[in-house]
Amino acid sequence: MSIIPRHIAVIMDGNGRWAKNRKLPRGIGHRQGVKSAQRIIKSCVDLGVRYLTLYAFSTENWKRPPREIKIIMNLFLKYITASKTELPEHEKVRVRVIGRWHELPYGLPSKIQSIIDDTAKHEGLNLTLAINYGGRKEILDAIGAIIKDSKTINTKNVISEEFLQKYLYAPEIPDPDLLIRTAGEYRISNFLLWQMAYAEIYVTKKLWPDFGKSDLMEAMNDFQNRERRFGSV
Ligand code: FPP
Repeated sequence: MSIIPRHIAVIMDGNGRWAKNRKLPRGIGHRQGVKSAQRIIKSCVDLGVRYLTLYAFSTENWKRPPREIKIIMNLFLKYITASKTELPEHEKVRVRVIGRWHELPYGLPSKIQSIIDDTAKHEGLNLTLAINYGGRKEILDAIGAIIKDSKTINTKNVISEEFLQKYLYAPEIPDPDLLIRTAGEYRISNFLLWQMAYAEIYVTKKLWPDFGKSDLMEAMNDFQNRERRFGSV
C-alpha cells in the first residue's frame, strides 16, 4: 500500500443492529464492538497507521436507556483496566482520551488518567478514544479556556486557527486524513468538527462488529484513489 493515511478516525456504528439481527441483547453487540476495536487497533499497528481515533461515546449517547449506558460504561472500564495486557504491548501504543471524560461514572476518570500516564512515553500507534465527546462541546471548551486565559494573552492579535487549535483536547494530533463510518449512515454526528475540515469520508454498510482488517484495507485503498486538493485546483 503506497499512501498510508497518517490519521484514521472511525465512527463505530452498528453494534445494536448487529445484535438485533441475531436476536441478541444490544449489550452483546457492544461487547463485540470492543473486540472489533481491538482488531482494528492491531491492524493499524500492522499497516503503519500513526494515529487512530475511535468515537466510543458521544455527549448525545446519554439519551440511551440507563441500562445500556451502564453496560457500555462497564465495557469501557473493563477494556481500560485490561488494556495494559490487551494492547499490543511490544508495539508501545500511546493512549489518549478526548471529551469530557472527567465527568464519567464508575471510577473511570482515575483509570483513564492512569492509562494516559502509563503510555505517555510510548512511541507506537497513537490511539485516541473519544469518550463523552462532542465536537461542539470541544469548541466551547476551547473558547472557555481562552476566556480564562484572556487576562494574560492579547486576544485581539492572536486569534487565528493555530491559536484556537492549541486549546483543543489534543492539539498535537494532526487532523484526520480519513474518516470511516460503519453501518451506512452519511453523517459526522458531532465528531471532530474542527479537525474534520479536509478529511476524506468513507462510509461502509458493514456493521462495526463485522468490520475487520480487510475492510480497513479496502477503506485505505479507496483513500489512495482520492485526489486531495485542500481547496486548490
Ligand atoms: C455504536 O453502535 C456504538 C456505540 C455508540 C457505543 C459503544 C462502542 C463500543 C462498545 C466500542 C468501544 C471500543 C473501545 C475500544 C472502548 P450503536 O449502538 O449506535 O448501533 P445501532 O446504531 O445499530 O443501534
